Amino acid sequence: MDKFVIRGGERLNGTVEVSGAKNASLALMPAALLASGITRLRNTPALRDVSTMSTLLKSMGAKVDFKNNTLAIDSRGVKHFEAPYEHVKKMRASIYVLGPLIARFGQARVSLPGGCAWGPRPVNLHLEGLQKLGAQIELEGGYINAKADRLTGTKIHFDVSSVGATGNILMAAVLASGTTLIENAAIEPEMTSLAEFLVAMGAKIDGIGTNRLEIEGVDSLKAAETRTIPDRIEAGTFLVAAAMTGGEITLTGVRPDQLSAVTAKLEDAGCTIGFTEDTITLTAPETIRPVDVTANIYPGFPTDMQAQWTAMMSIADGTSIITDSIYFDRFKHVPELVRLGANIEIKENAAVVRGVPRITGAKVMSTDLRASASLILAGLVASGTTEVLRVYHIDRGYEAIEKKLQTLGADIQRVTGEEF
Ligand code: UD1
Repeated sequence: MDKFVIRGGERLNGTVEVSGAKNASLALMPAALLASGITRLRNTPALRDVSTMSTLLKSMGAKVDFKNNTLAIDSRGVKHFEAPYEHVKKMRASIYVLGPLIARFGQARVSLPGGCAWGPRPVNLHLEGLQKLGAQIELEGGYINAKADRLTGTKIHFDVSSVGATGNILMAAVLASGTTLIENAAIEPEMTSLAEFLVAMGAKIDGIGTNRLEIEGVDSLKAAETRTIPDRIEAGTFLVAAAMTGGEITLTGVRPDQLSAVTAKLEDAGCTIGFTEDTITLTAPETIRPVDVTANIYPGFPTDMQAQWTAMMSIADGTSIITDSIYFDRFKHVPELVRLGANIEIKENAAVVRGVPRITGAKVMSTDLRASASLILAGLVASGTTEVLRVYHIDRGYEAIEKKLQTLGADIQRVTGEEF
């Protein structure tokens, strides 16, 4: 297990290229199961979650090759239809194989994901949706056993907008017989990119980009290729890093329209931001103004940026309230930020952050991906040395984060060792 050692106080300056979006890749990769052939996904980030999904697809009989950020998945040999516990426990997104497997092979056995570091994360919407499409589902021994002859189009209205359930049902419905209507579908860019990719594979989907998707099932799909959209959460994290350290950075290869909730809030906090079609330049303010945010579904402020925003507000000039309306318990980063000297109080699903003039380096523990990111951000401005332990969490979702930060002038080192 590696750790990061950060000496705070360096301003971040320069240009950094944004990687492909983890959450887009994790949906595109299982889509390869829907056709027989070679799927090519360009701009795939080299991340632990991507390699976990690759291992899972290989265990099913696929061949996976990853070179220069292009992932080639040859699904012609797929003959096992199982996602075992050892994969799913590492990464909840493994459940994305459920929809494609039932739709194409009529069977799937997928371990139930269980909770995660910050609380319960049910999959009822995935299962109810598949049942409505005609799958027979049994839960036994911690596994979802699903069977179907051909799935049949139906109307599905999600009570809660869910990214994962939208992806799974979409991937199942494209091969169902007849028309499926998904209402209250998630419109996160990663889902839009999945829907567009399915169309490139031959699927018929209307309403892409809206929360009402109409899918006319087809008999078969063909393998296709695409370029993965940029990671809006990685981009947002770097913007916050620049804002916190008093720097000026330019992000390249980014989609500003997909980040507008974050950039609008950064402007409220006093940052100056310039946009081109695929770049964002941020100049930090002298003093960060306190700005409340409520994490919500897209196009709201992303819950995956909530921890990073909390880190930034810890050094703002006043008090802010950060509410998470998606994951009520997603505040595992707070006690660690408090160890660095932040003044944060949790009230139900909100963090009340009273900005302090200075935070101080200490040893802190990563608990999950975005919590780790917030601790790195805090370490970049803390006086003295911060050690962020258990950085395997960060490797799940940020490609070469320390190298990118070093390029921008940060003093951050990865130390490899057993005992961290
Ligand atoms: C995805 C993202 C994750 C992000 C989250 C919210 C991936 C791989 N992960 O996770 O980074 O934080 O969206 O933007 O893309 N829910 C149910 N029943 C279900 C499914 C979800 O009640 O069957 C609830 C959840 O508890 C949560 C809400 O729906 O309150 C949204 O969760 P969802 O969008 O499904 O998140 P994920 O797809 O797991």
